[in-house]
Order: sequence, then structure tokens, then C-alpha cells
Amino acid sequence: MSNPIVITVDGTAASGKGTLAKRLAHHFGFAHLDSGSLYRLTALAVIEAGGNPASASDAERGAHAIDLSMANDPKIRTAEMGQAASLVAAVPAVRAALLNFQREFLAHPPGESPGAVMDGRDIGTVICPMATAKLFVDAKPEVRAHRRWLELESLDQGGDEAHILAELKARDLADKSRPISPLKPAPDVFLLDTSDLDIDAAFAAALALVKPKIEGALKALPQG
Ligand code: C5P
Repeated sequence: MSNPIVITVDGTAASGKGTLAKRLAHHFGFAHLDSGSLYRLTALAVIEAGGNPASASDAERGAHAIDLSMANDPKIRTAEMGQAASLVAAVPAVRAALLNFQREFLAHPPGESPGAVMDGRDIGTVICPMATAKLFVDAKPEVRAHRRWLELESLDQGGDEAHILAELKARDLADKSRPISPLKPAPDVFLLDTSDLDIDAAFAAALALVKPKIEGALKALPQG
């Protein structure tokens, strides 16, 4: 079997990468995985077991106990769970425990799909350096904080936008400065700044960037 086509979408928190990844997957008929949910599920497993997300041994235990059926639970989408996810994500044993699941998903996308889209922080740099097309999505911190505030409002969890901004900046700093799998653009990535783009414009820009590579790879697939 030929290698599946892979689009990686890395970027900062609330940059729009998750929505872009979902829409790209839908456009090309590819499978999609939000890798951030794996770290959020790890944090949830730690907290529900009465553990401490800052403890490496609790975090490692959590990564081996994640419940994928909770991936769409609003409980993992809170700001607190985002912070706890960032703590467990800095633990090497957690990343090692989640690595195979992510690589397996890309090697064998569910539904016999010819390709997969995965969003996260290290997908183009560590999980799949040989990806067909790579995007790195970012936006000004103030714009991202406002988007996150709107998202939390829609979940009835609104809050103080200045506090959300401070948390986003702290999480970006932690994600960019950790020694293992730090958030950084891969050398062969397409950079996309969504600060001045609404989601439709951002999707159009993302599609224009990856389309030539993806269509070329689709054409090269063996027929039949
Ligand atoms: O993308 P999301 O905000 O859901 O990610 C939550 C946290 O999980 C991030 O702040 C980051 O620390 C961690 N993460 C990661 N590597 C990924 C995806 C998420 O370290 N591939």
C-alpha cells in the first residue's frame, strides 16, 4: 500500500488551527485528529484520579489511562484543562506514550481514507517530519484571546479577556520553551497568520497553500 497523504497543522493556542484542520480534512475527504485532545485527556485522567498534572509520574500514569470516548466532552475544553494539558505535555514519558497512537493514525487513517490531517504543536517537526504538506498557524495574542473568550462564552464559561490573554501567553511560552518537542515551525512549513482573517478567509488561504502538494500526491496514488 502507498503511504497515506498527510497534512500537519501546528500552531499556537486559539490560532484557528483546529478549525482549519477539520475543514481541510472535510475538503479532501481525509481523516482528522486533534492531537491536543490527547494531552487534554491525559490531564483529565490525572485530575480524575486525584493526581497532580505537574507530577511527572502522575502524568505518565494518566497518559496510559486516557479514555478516547471523552475526546468530545466539553470538560476537556476548559482553560484550566488547557493549562494542565500544557504541564503534562512537557513530560517526556507522556509524549512517548502518545507517539505511537498518533503515528499509527497517520499510517492507517480510519475509514480507509487516502490521507489524514493532524493538528497540534509538534506534528510537522516530530510526529510526521515527512508529511506531504505542513502548515504553521499563528495570530496576534490579543486576537487569539478574543477568539478564545468567544469560544468559552458559547460554552457558558466566559471570563475575563485580560486573564485569558495572560494564560495564552503563559501557555505559548511554556510550549515554545520546553526542552522536548517545543512548538516551532518546521523548516519546510507554510506560515499562515490568521490575525486579520475570518475563518472562511483563513481556510481559503490554507487551502491555496497546501492544494498543489495535496493534489499532486492524490494524482500520484495508484489507481483502482
Ligand atoms: O491545542 P490544545 O490547546 O488543545 O493543546 C493543549 C496543550 O497540549 C498545548 O498547550 C500543548 O502544551 C499540548 N500539546 C502538545 N503537542 C501537541 C498538541 C498539544 O504539546 N501536538
